[in-house]
Amino acid sequence: PRPILLTRHGESRYNVRSRIGGDSLLSDTGEIYSKKLSNFVEKRLKSEKAASIWTSTLQRTILTAGPIVGFPKIQWRALDEINSGVCDGMTYEEIKRNMPEEYESRKKDKLRYRYPRGESYLDVIQRLEPVIIELERQRAPVVVISHQAVLRALYAYFADRPLKEIPHIEMPLHTIIEIQMGVTGVQEKRYKLMD
Ligand code: F6P
Repeated sequence: PRPILLTRHGESRYNVRSRIGGDSLLSDTGEIYSKKLSNFVEKRLKSEKAASIWTSTLQRTILTAGPIVGFPKIQWRALDEINSGVCDGMTYEEIKRNMPEEYESRKKDKLRYRYPRGESYLDVIQRLEPVIIELERQRAPVVVISHQAVLRALYAYFADRPLKEIPHIEMPLHTIIEIQMGVTGVQEKRYKLMD
């Protein structure tokens, strides 16, 4: 059975400053993760000649895939992080202070809340459909390097978690979630590569 490996990008410079969205580079810690991930993937998928690495089109996932060699890399715009529209680049504190109504509406219904000029979780779930179709078609392992909101949605699909839980699923940095789809159902393993 072919595994699907899900991981967020290594810690970004925006993560360090608690800023959402953007297209920042990796922090030093994030760069260390990219190397650990590459060691892990090269060992785990050593004899898997047809495996591939899928990233978003954002720097932080492309750089996280950087050290991995020997597998084709594919960029998907559909794997880009939720578009936070007018709030892009802000911290949650800044949103709370400068746009309190937006902050409250999101808190009330995080699944349906759409950032002004941006996206909601439901939008993200919808745009992931072609990625899911392609993932299900694959016969070889795939490593998906993406972002918090997107991975919550992808994970929920494979782990069969209810829609309303999606925005609240824990999706830590520097952790690989390995999903195996077998005849008896879905099996999951987690690898935390850094403390
Ligand atoms: O903070 C990292 C991040 O990927 C942001 O870019 C994004 O807006 C956010 O997480 C999504 O998580 P949440 O839906 O909990 O705000």
